[in-house]
Amino acid sequence: MTIIRGATTIVQDNKTEISASVKELLDEVFAVNVLQKEEVKCFIFSLTTDIHSYHPAKAARESGYDFAPLFAAIEPEIDGGLKLCIRLMLLTELADNRAAKHIYQKGAKTLRKDISEKLNIALDGPAGSGKSTVAKVLAKDYNILYLDTGAMYRACGLKALRLGIDTKDGAAVAKMLPSLDVKVEYKDGKQHTLLDGEDVSSAIRENAVSMAASNVSAHPAVRIKMVEMQREIAGSMSCVLDGRDIGSTVLPNAKFKFFVTADSAVRAERRYKELQARGENVDFEKLHEEIKARDKQDSEREFSPLKCADDAIVVDTSAMDIDEVVATIKKHIQSKI
Ligand code: DC
Repeated sequence: MTIIRGATTIVQDNKTEISASVKELLDEVFAVNVLQKEEVKCFIFSLTTDIHSYHPAKAARESGYDFAPLFAAIEPEIDGGLKLCIRLMLLTELADNRAAKHIYQKGAKTLRKDISEKLNIALDGPAGSGKSTVAKVLAKDYNILYLDTGAMYRACGLKALRLGIDTKDGAAVAKMLPSLDVKVEYKDGKQHTLLDGEDVSSAIRENAVSMAASNVSAHPAVRIKMVEMQREIAGSMSCVLDGRDIGSTVLPNAKFKFFVTADSAVRAERRYKELQARGENVDFEKLHEEIKARDKQDSEREFSPLKCADDAIVVDTSAMDIDEVVATIKKHIQSKI
């Protein structure tokens, strides 16, 4: 007996998607393994608990895979597990003892890092566009790393502020760089940003640090140092990176590039609520002006500015909630993998 394994994911729990994905998975399993009907003894599917709209065994039967018993079961839900995932175990007797080729499609590719290509997703866009929220969801759902590159510039800005260095003074900031030690660590799936060994994940979110980060990020020496670290991390594992220049400069060859944007008033409103929830009292109009100033500075700086890469997909989130943004981005990703 040989077992051929496979898995796929859907974006939304509906009959059309389940049927199409099951067919696509079985078609590829059969084509790649050159399977004959009489070699197949049994189809076993399992589903994550978030799939309710259709039965994969029925979908398989309706696609012509009705020549062996079909069975489907629900998997227990586990923390960090893939969402909306359909798995397959095909029990076979392969005539000539040939080796099984397992098929992992769409988001399920991340389940088998050993047989799947590395997945790098670049999410760029201005402050408050929602890209970091989306990046976190994508990282969780695809079980890959999330690298918040803004946090690295923020740590650099924070150090300059603490040392009383003028963040606009390129020479002074460059002088600080040899002693700047920024590291990112992951604990329980969350990024922790360390500045000279201290966990500054919370301190870098203060509003005063935002402009300092934008200021230091304009200096070429700072960018060279940060971009090198970012490329090293992205080169070694599947991850989603958010920032300003990921698709255009850091990972110009990333397979997936999105430019997430929204109207500046909508973005200011989102930041306002975020800061209020953290107990920071800010004036909305002032915040809106700051966001516009940061947009201008980030996109007009000479070296590696905030830029939509030519081959990035633009997602305007002004009138979308997070679920809609995630679904839009996942649809693009899953149509290509
Ligand atoms: O995404 P954020 O607001 O945390 O980023 C803080 C600042 O860092 C932002 O104003 C611009 C800068 N930045 C950058 O220049 N390049 C990146 N890849 C990420 C952030």
